[in-house]
Parts: sequence; C-alpha cells; structure tokens
Amino acid sequence: MTSPCISIKNMTMAYGDLIIQRDLNFTINRGEIFVIMGGSGCGKSTLLMHLIGLHRPLIGDVFYGEESLWGADYKTRQGLLRQTGVLFQSGALLSSMTLAENVALPLTEHTRLSAQRIRHLVSYKLALVGLAGFEDYYPAEISGGMQKRAGLARAMALDPEILFFDEPSAGLDPVSAKLLDDLIRSLRDHLGATIVIVTHELASIFAIGTYSVFLDMESKTMIASGPPKQLLTESRDPKVLRFLTRGASEDSSSSAIKQQGHENL
Ligand SMILES: Nc1ncnc2c1ncn2[C@@H]1O[C@H](COP(=O)(O)OP(=O)(O)OP(=O)(O)O)[C@@H](O)[C@H]1O
Ligand SMILES: [Mg+2]
Repeated sequence: MTSPCISIKNMTMAYGDLIIQRDLNFTINRGEIFVIMGGSGCGKSTLLMHLIGLHRPLIGDVFYGEESLWGADYKTRQGLLRQTGVLFQSGALLSSMTLAENVALPLTEHTRLSAQRIRHLVSYKLALVGLAGFEDYYPAEISGGMQKRAGLARAMALDPEILFFDEPSAGLDPVSAKLLDDLIRSLRDHLGATIVIVTHELASIFAIGTYSVFLDMESKTMIASGPPKQLLTESRDPKVLRFLTRGASEDSSSSAIKQQGHENL
C-alpha cells in the first residue's frame, strides 16, 4: 500500500498565462483510491490531463514510479501511459459505434488479439459494469448512467494498473452511484488497480476514498491532503470543512454531520 505509483513534484499548471494551480506536491501510492477534491473550476480535470500525458506542466513534473513523464521522450511517455485507463468527465463514447465497438476500440488499437477474443473480453467488461446484453446498443439508445458505465468498461478494456475517473457518478441515482462505488472498490481489491478519482460525491469520498487532496481556487494551490475521514475530523481549514460537510460546518449541525460521516463508513 505504500509503494509510490505516481508522484507529483513541484508542479504548476497553466493555460497560456493563466495559472490554474501551483506548487503541487503529492504522491499517489499503489492500491490507493485517491480522491481529487475542490470546487468547480479549481483545476481538477486539468490536473488529470497533466497526470495522463495530455497537458504539459508549466513547471515541475509527474513521475510514474521513478520515471519522469514529462522529461521522457514521446515513445517512453506513451509506454508509461499504456498502464493507464481513463474515464473523462464527458464520458465521450463514440455515438456512431455500438457499446461493444466502443469498448473494443482500445483492444483493436493496442493489441493483436483475435476478433473472437476481443468480443469475449468486451462482453466480460460490459458485464462487469452491469451492461451484459447491451453489446449492440448505440450510446443514444441507453441512459446517461449506462453511458457512464460503458465509459468505465472502455477505460478498463486493457486491464490498466492505474485508472483515472473524472466524476464517474455524476448524474447517477444513489443506488447506481453506490453500485459504482462497489465496482471501483472491487477493481482495487481484486485487480490490484490504483484508482485516481475526481468526485464531489461526499458519500463516495467517505465510502471509498483512502487518501485525498483538496485544491483551492483562490490560493491556487493544494491546501489539504490526507484520508478524507481524517480531514473531516482534523482539518482546521474552513474551506475544506465546508466542502466535506456540504457547507454545514459553520452552523451548529457541524458535529452531527461529522458524526454521520463516521457512521456511514
Ligand atoms: N482548454 C482550456 N483552455 C483554457 N482554460 C481552460 C481550459 N480548460 C479549462 N480551463 C480553465 O481552467 C480552470 C480549471 O478548469 P477544470 O476543468 O480543470 O476545473 P474542474 O476543477 O475540473 O471543474 P469542474 O468541477 O467544474 O469539472 C477553469 O477556470 C477553466 O475555465
Ligand atoms: Mg472537471
């Protein structure tokens, strides 16, 4: 549990002249369900883009184990990223392809498996996310939550060691969101995957998050890190507490909510 998987060192992220977050330093350990938290627009999705090789840091670097992601040449970087799978915030299934074709895409692009083997693997991944029998449906023919889960199946297609999920349960009903949490936990427990997840869902954060960082929009840096339950009880930062108690930390119900946070776990 304590071997470093990804280390973020002294990283500043920007779009052109606009600094989004600066001086980020943290480590994601193997087997962790690592939660990236913070208000809308603080830079969570931007951080994921930097971790998965889609956006170069202005300053600093990301390390996969000992290997520098951004100091490496393109080919080495692609090699490091082969162990990752991503579910983007928008889901982004290709609308002209069936679910099976969408999930098969990484397998046809990156492996030489036979068509029959790919079909078999695709059905298995779809079944894992509760979509057995939906192989031939098009994204427009299924619900938003089902599209999200199909996106998860595609992210898992190549059995990656590290999975990045950007708000996987946004728009899901509470029962589906709970099932998704269970799925994420079982990916970690049974496949040994490391999960990096952006989410606002407090229930998920407390139920499955093993470690977290909180990005602050005003100071443009990370202002808290630790296991979410520990931040809830030990953080003195009003912004962190407001986030973790849905804004209730300033009134008298704060301790009741903290108590509830514990009981839910
Ligand atoms: N491609 C881009 N070019 C310029 N600015 C961008 C780009 N993408 C995002 N931004 C800006 O960077 C900031 C952080 O955006 P980001 O999408 O990372 O936020 P977020 O924390 O994921 O928000 P949310 O919770 O709403 O998804 C925002 O101010 C946004 O407007
Ligand atoms: Mg985002």
